[in-house]
Order: sequence, then C-alpha cells, then structure tokens
Amino acid sequence: MRTKMQILGIETSCDETAAAVVEDGCRIISDVVSSQIDIHARYGGVVPEVASRQHLLTIIPVVSQAMTEVSWQDINGIAVTFGPGLAGSLLVGVNVAKAIALAKKLPVTGVNHLEAHIYANWLDSSSSPGENGRVKFPCLCLVVSGGHSDLVLMKGHGQFEKLGRTRDDAAGEAFDKAARILDLGYPGGPAIEQAARSGTPCLPLPRAWLKESHDFSFSGLTTALWQRVHKGGISVANAAASFQLAIVDVLVAKTIEAAKQLKVEQILLSGGVAANKTLAQHFLANSPVPVLIPPPHLCTDNAAMVAACGYYHFQAGKVSGYDLDVVPSLGIG
Ligand code: KG4
Ligand code: ZN
Repeated sequence: MRTKMQILGIETSCDETAAAVVEDGCRIISDVVSSQIDIHARYGGVVPEVASRQHLLTIIPVVSQAMTEVSWQDINGIAVTFGPGLAGSLLVGVNVAKAIALAKKLPVTGVNHLEAHIYANWLDSSSSPGENGRVKFPCLCLVVSGGHSDLVLMKGHGQFEKLGRTRDDAAGEAFDKAARILDLGYPGGPAIEQAARSGTPCLPLPRAWLKESHDFSFSGLTTALWQRVHKGGISVANAAASFQLAIVDVLVAKTIEAAKQLKVEQILLSGGVAANKTLAQHFLANSPVPVLIPPPHLCTDNAAMVAACGYYHFQAGKVSGYDLDVVPSLGIG
C-alpha cells in the first residue's frame, strides 16, 4: 500500500511562475521557478499586467518540467496559492490548478502565500538535510517579503495568530525603494546586500521601535536615507550598509523581544528578506532560542513551500471546491 503523499504545488502570486512536487511535506522531488525579474527590471518594479501575461506563457511548461520525473498517478493532490498577491497573477495559478485537478481527478487546496513562506522551514534541502521534524511549537514566525512584514505566533499546523505587521512599507519594499534611491536596480534586497559588503554602516539612520506594539515601520527610514543621500558626500556602499543595518536591527530586536515575552521554542524566518546574510548573522548571534532559516532559494517565492503547506492542509482534511477564487488581500492569522 502506498503511504507516501506527493503534492504538486503551484505558485503565481507575483513575478515568479513556479511548480514543485514535494513528498510528505518535506522532501523536494522537483522545484521549478521561472523568474520574470529580467522582464520587470527595466520598469524598476513588477508591472501587474505584464506579470499575468507572462504567467500565462510559462505556467504549462513550468508544471510539465516539475512533472518530468513524476507520474501523475503518484500525485495525491494539488496545492495552489490563492492569495495574497496580484489578482491577475493569482488567477492564472488557481485556474490552472483547478483545470488539472478536474482533468486528473485530484483534490485541490488553496494555500495562503504567507503561510506557505513559513512552511519553507519544513523543507529538507541540500544545506539542511533531513531536518524535517525539527520545528517545535509554539514558534514565532517573522515573514519578511516584498509585500509583508508580519510577526506571527504559530501554535500548531494551520494555527496562526498575527502579533504585528508593518504600518507602512514592508521590509522588502524598503530594500527595493532604497536600491532605487541608490541607483542599484531591481530587486533591491540582493543589490543592497551586495553593495553593503564593501561599506561600513557609519550613517546614523533612524529606527522606528514602536515599543508599545509588535508592529514595524520602515517608511521613515527610507525617507531619511533619501534626504541624506541627496545632501551628498556619502558612498553608495556606506549608505547601503547603514540602511541594511537599520532594518536588521529593528527586525532582530523586535522579534527577539516578542520571542522572550511569549516564551516560544523557536524563531522561524521566511520570505525574500530572510535570504539576507546580515539578518541571519544577527539573529543567530542574539537569539536565546534556535532560529530556523530556509536556504536563500526557498526564502524567495517558490512552489515547494506551497506544496509543503498544502500537505498539512490535506492532512487536516482542508480541501477546496472548484469554486476556489483568488483573494488578493488575504492576510494571515
Ligand atoms: O518573498 P519574496 O520573493 O516575494 C514576495 O512575496 O514579496 O520577496 C521578495 C522581496 C523583495 O522585496 C526583495 O528585494 C527581497 O525580498 N529580498 C531581499 C533579499 N533577497 C530578496 N532583501 C534583502 N536581502 C536579500 N538578500
Ligand atoms: Zn512571497
């Protein structure tokens, strides 16, 4: 009797068209990501209409590639991101998932993109082999992406309680804006990280501590960077290093403070900004509890995390109907 469960994950919420097959919520069988970065880079950010058209062109080849080594008979279910994200982009993934589910007589489950980011921590990978099962509840999840900076308490599978969020720009969005100010191109996070390597964080930039809450705020920092850069006399490398450290300081201090207050077992990082090495170093050096961080390619958007999250949906009997629709403003907790 077959005991393993293989889930096909599909992700099209923003500018990556992705499909992956994951076994038992942890073992990656295939993981295909087709990035649109080059297409959007010339505009300095994602153009929604261009993104959805590009998803239409690439989704079938991407799913076919993810299925190269796998037989459809071995797939037990389909997991697809239904929000949050760009409406036109989400629609492509959701409709392809429903069409395949209907054609192959498979159950489909709609997955929250933010929860999926968190589930990247369940995936085994070459840099963290065989670590499935290492997550301990309750854990504190910091989801830092291009659209979100959420601090979420996770008490068990599918049990999320939002503690804090950004009141203005997300951390990734702040990196992207800073890169534009410094003329470093898109996406900004990796560009700022690269430039910061040859700089020193010598600029005194502001940190919004918002001590009375677990919320974040990064727009004041970005404005301060803009004002300082326009005064002149500061190198791009030093400006990038100072800006990066200001974001890292706030994310690390506020998350660790919340972890102590809530007495969690672990801290789980996720989302594109979690790929930042300085952020990882500061967390690992300062946290009193273990900090789990997916490898960089599983921090940014991918479908393996969607399949991992979907596996736990199916385990809990959470199956969507064919009326599954996109929810662009979906939140977590
Ligand atoms: O999770 P993600 O791939 O997509 C969203 O769901 O938004 O995150 C993308 C964001 C972008 O804002 C990008 O600049 C940022 O993550 N990012 C980084 C790094 N790599 C990607 N930020 C800081 N350091 C990085 N190495
Ligand atoms: Zn994402």
